[in-house]
Order: sequence, then structure tokens, then C-alpha cells
Amino acid sequence: MIDRSKPLATATRSDNELYELVEDFFATSFSTDNIVITEAVRRMLAAGGKRLRPRFTLLAVEANGADATQHLPLAAYMELIHVGTLIHDDVVDNASTRRGVNATAIDFGNKVSVLAGDYLFAWIFKNVTANYPHPVPNILASTLADITDGEVLQHRAVGRLDLPVADYTEIAIKKTATLFAASAECGAIMSGATPLRIKALRDYGMYYGIAFQMLDDLLDFVATEAELGKPVGNDLREHKMTIPLILALGSGGPDLKSAVARFYGMSSSSVAADEATVAVADLVSRVEAAGGLAKTREAIAGYVERAKMSLAPLGNSSTRAELVALADGLAREGAARTR
Ligand code: IPE
Ligand code: IPE
Ligand code: MG
Ligand code: MG
Repeated sequence: MIDRSKPLATATRSDNELYELVEDFFATSFSTDNIVITEAVRRMLAAGGKRLRPRFTLLAVEANGADATQHLPLAAYMELIHVGTLIHDDVVDNASTRRGVNATAIDFGNKVSVLAGDYLFAWIFKNVTANYPHPVPNILASTLADITDGEVLQHRAVGRLDLPVADYTEIAIKKTATLFAASAECGAIMSGATPLRIKALRDYGMYYGIAFQMLDDLLDFVATEAELGKPVGNDLREHKMTIPLILALGSGGPDLKSAVARFYGMSSSSVAADEATVAVADLVSRVEAAGGLAKTREAIAGYVERAKMSLAPLGNSSTRAELVALADGLAREGAARTR
């Protein structure tokens, strides 16, 4: 907790400066007792990534006038939870690249990937429970339970062409938005924020996270692997029910539905790679023609507005402006992505 007898830090850092702080911290300060796991995780950290979750923690700290440098380990745990879930997610999603390099399973195998994620989570909780007061460990533990629950719900929704938007949203909240919410919330708690401001930052993270997952789903349709550093078209290949597809199915005609049913009815392993590439390109065009991409952009913009509105209790500050800019960035990227 911050020492309330000290004056509040006056100079807040820009989001870019917070990014640099997180990078420096990882470059010098990450190690576990297991050499293989340390190497696998360091490799994923060195490969890059936007470091959004630790930035959320540090922005929440700064939003309450505290010093971000005092909370770097907490911010780092948020990124490490994310990295552990990415290592597992790429096994589950059969993805071969991540952050522009081989996915962990390609270089270390599925077995080490599963064990590395497990070890990393346990290592994080060993440290968080030893060093942070209630409710921070509880929030992180519930968040990881939600992420796993979200991944399981998504797995069970594979191929369900009638999946309601509400079910999709629950999955997006659990697998993605809760970690953004927790990252902001814990930064606020550790900087001694009032309950109103803690809630404002948590809500911001939650709405941002839903918009973020929707944008990620959109990018799977319209971006390139070179831009993302991870496979594109993989959601369709894995027969996932993502938001562009769900919204297109909601307004598209029977032709779209039967085209999706045909492709999703085939087992992924029985379709030759080039045949799948043609089928995926065809589905992308059909989803676009049915308005799935345009409606996704609208949905992203809606959640971005809710994220920004959540920040009202913060008053006017440069940190609030940074958070607003991050949210606007999602809507802008969604809008800019046309094929
Ligand atoms: C990818 O997250 C996983 C999702 C929740 C969609 P990011 O897009 O934040 O991945 P990095 O950290 O920048 O690699
Ligand atoms: C996010 O979903 C999964 C996690 C919670 C790690 P995705 O499966 O869409 O993430 P990407 O596209 O592989 O990064
Ligand atoms: Mg994935
Ligand atoms: Mg994705």
C-alpha cells in the first residue's frame, strides 16, 4: 500500500514511458527456479507483445496519483498470467506462431508447454499470495479461473452456428476482459484508490476487454500473419464461433449458413491445407457480404464508448486521457480495417 503520509507523485508518465518501464523490468528481473521454463517464458517475453495488461495496472496506479515504479512487479504478474494463457491457448488452438516467432509448442512441444503454463501460474500465485494483501490474490485467482472457464466454454461452442451473441460475450468477458479488468482494478487497489475509482477502472478494463476481443476476432478475418505475428483465418479453421461470423449468420441468408455448415461439418484434419485456405477465403467474403465485419466494427465502437464513460469518476487528468486514447485506438483500428 502507498504511504499516505508522503505527498502524491505529481508527474505522471505517458503510456509510452510506462511501456518502457515494463520492458526494462522484464529485461532485468524475470527468473524462476526452473531453467527450461524460464527460457520458454523469456523467449515469449523477448518476442514482443503490446504489454497492455501491465500498462493498465500502471495507468491505474498513476490515475490515483501514485508512483508506477513502485508497482512494477504487480504489473509484471499481469503480463505473466497473460503469457501463461497464450502458451496454453496456442496448444488448444493448434496455432504455430505467436508474436512473430514459433509458438512455444513448436519449439518445446505440447508437454513442456502445458507444464510451463502450469508452473508459471503456480509461481505467480506463490509470489502474489506472499506479497499482496486481500483482495489482490483473490482477484487474480478468480481471473485465472474465468480465463480457463472461458476457453472451455469457447471449446464447447465450436461449430454451434446458433450461438447467441450473449453467449459469445460471456466467453469474451471470461477469457479476455476479466484480465484487463483485474489489471486495472489491482493497480487501483494497490494505489489506495476509493471504491468508486476502483470500480470505474475495473469497468473500463471490462468494456475495453470485450472490444479488444472483438477486434482480435475481426483481425483474424482481415489482417495478415505478418502484421499480427500469429496465424490469421485460424478461428474459421478451428471452427470457432467468433463475433464477425455470429453477426453475419444473424442477418445473412440460408446460403451463408449452409456454406458455414458445410465447412464446419468437415473434420479439420480431413481437409487439405490448400483446400482449407480457399474455403476460408470464401467464408471471409461471405461474412463480409452479410455485414458481419461492419457490424463487428459497430459493436467494437459501442464497447469503446462504454469503456470511456466508465472513467467519469476519475475526473480530468492526463492519465484518464491516456486511457481514453487506448480505447479510441481500438475503435480506430476496427474502423480502418476494411478488406
Ligand atoms: C492476444 O492478446 C490474446 C487475446 C486476448 C486476444 P494480445 O493481442 O494482447 O497479445 P500480445 O500480448 O500483444 O502478444
Ligand atoms: C484469447 O483468444 C485467448 C486467451 C485468453 C489467451 P484467442 O484464441 O482469440 O487469442 P489469439 O487470437 O490466439 O491471440
Ligand atoms: Mg488462440
Ligand atoms: Mg484470436
